[in-house]
Amino acid sequence: MNAVLQYLQLLLLISFLHHASSNSIPIFNAFYSFGSSYEDTGNIAILAPTAPGYRNLLNPPYGETFFNRPTGRASDGRLVIDRIAVCLGLPFIPPSLAQGQDFSKGANFAVSGATALDLTFFQQNNIRNSLLQNTSLSVQIEWFENQKSSICNTTCVEYFTKSLFALGKFGDNDYLYMLFGGKTIDFVNSTVPLVVETIRSAAERLLNQGVMHLVVSGIRPNGCIPVVLTYFPSTNRSDYDSLGCLKVYNNIGIYHNTLLSSAVKQLRLKFPLAKISFSDYYNPIIDFVSNPSKYGFTSGTQLRACCGTGEPYNFNLLANCGQAGVPACPNPSTFINWDGIHLTDASYDIIADGWLKGPYADPPILVL
Ligand SMILES: *[C@@H]1O[C@H](CO)[C@@H](O)[C@H](O)[C@H]1NC(C)=O
Ligand SMILES: *[C@@H]1O[C@H](CO)[C@@H](O)[C@H](O)[C@H]1NC(C)=O
Ligand SMILES: *[C@@H]1O[C@H](CO)[C@@H](O)[C@H](O)[C@H]1NC(C)=O
Ligand SMILES: *[C@@H]1O[C@H](CO)[C@@H](O)[C@H](O)[C@H]1NC(C)=O
Repeated sequence: MNAVLQYLQLLLLISFLHHASSNSIPIFNAFYSFGSSYEDTGNIAILAPTAPGYRNLLNPPYGETFFNRPTGRASDGRLVIDRIAVCLGLPFIPPSLAQGQDFSKGANFAVSGATALDLTFFQQNNIRNSLLQNTSLSVQIEWFENQKSSICNTTCVEYFTKSLFALGKFGDNDYLYMLFGGKTIDFVNSTVPLVVETIRSAAERLLNQGVMHLVVSGIRPNGCIPVVLTYFPSTNRSDYDSLGCLKVYNNIGIYHNTLLSSAVKQLRLKFPLAKISFSDYYNPIIDFVSNPSKYGFTSGTQLRACCGTGEPYNFNLLANCGQAGVPACPNPSTFINWDGIHLTDASYDIIADGWLKGPYADPPILVL
C-alpha cells in the first residue's frame, strides 16, 4: 500500500514537473550545491588553474562530449548536478567563485579536491598532498553564508524554503589523501565516524538556516576505481572480490555510507518539516561494474579509464588525462570511468536519473 502510494505520488510529481518545466515554472527557485570534483562546475579552474594536479582538467579532451571545450568539470561532459538543475527548470548553476555571474537561481560552491575535514586535520596528522587546498566543507558553507546577504537579506528563510540544497560527495578525498600520505587502512577506517559527523553537522548548519530541501550524498566504491586499483594493488587474489574490485576500500565506503545514512535519519527526526534525501554514488557504480552491458557500457572495460595511459586500468598519474599525447577512448559513452577517478557523462546521466526518480536516492529528489 505504502509503495503504491509512493508510486502514485511519484507519477503525480513527475507529471506536475513535466507540466511545470514545459511552462518554464520551476518548482524550486534556486539550487545550491557543495562538494568536490564530482560536483565542481568550474571553481578549481578559477582557484588553482595552474596547480599541477588540476591544470589538466582545463585541457581537452575534458568536456569533449557535451560542452565541446574544457569547463573545469572533471568529466567529458555534464555532471549529476547539471542534470538535476535542468530537470528542475533551472540553468546550470554557476561556480560560486566566478565573477559577474547571476546567482539568483543558485550557486555551486563545490571545488575539486575538497575534503569534509578541515585543512588543519591533515596538517596535524602530517598528511601532505599537492591537491589539498583550503576548500573543505566548512569553508564552502562559509562562502555560502557570505554570499547569502547579496541573495536574500531579510527574506532568506522564505527564499530557502523554495530552494534545493545538495551536499555532494565528501569523504573520498579525505580517505585518498590519507592513503597516499602513507596512513594505514585501519587509520583511515578510524576516521570514518569523524568524517561523517563533519558532514552531519554541516547539514545541520544549513537546516538551522531554514533549508527545507536537502540532498546528502554518500561516497563511491573506491575499490572499483582505477586510481585505487593502480596505486594500492594486492598480490593476494583474495583481496579482490568477484568483480575485480579491492574489498577493503569498498568496505570503507560501505561503512561511511551506513553511518551517513543513519545520520540523515537522525536529522529527519530533528527537523521533521525538512525533506532530506540520501543520494548514492556507491550502488550505481557497483551496478555498472557488475552488469556493464545492461547500462550501455562495453563489457571488459568496466574497471578501465576511457582517457589515460597504463595497464591494466589505463591509469597512470604521471601520464593522465589532459596531458599532451594522452588519448581518450573513441566512444566515452561506452565507458563508466572517464579519467581514472571521475565518471563519464554517460555514467552521470544514469546516476542523475536514479537520484531524481529512484532507485539511487532515498527518497528520490522528485518526491522531495
Ligand atoms: C581557510 O579558510 C578559512 C575561511 O576562508 C579561514 O578562516 C582559515 O583560516 C583558512 N585556514 C587555513 C589553514 O588557511
Ligand atoms: C541586501 O542588503 C545590502 C546592504 O544593505 C544591499 O546592498 C543589497 O542590495 C541587498 N540585497 C537584496 C537582494 O535585497
Ligand atoms: C572499520 O571499523 C568498523 C567499526 O569498528 C568495523 O566494523 C569495520 O569492520 C572496519 N572496516 C575495515 C575495512 O577495517
Ligand atoms: C590472502 O588473504 C587471505 C584473507 O585475508 C589470507 O587468509 C591468506 O593467508 C592470504 N594469502 C597470502 C598468500 O598472503
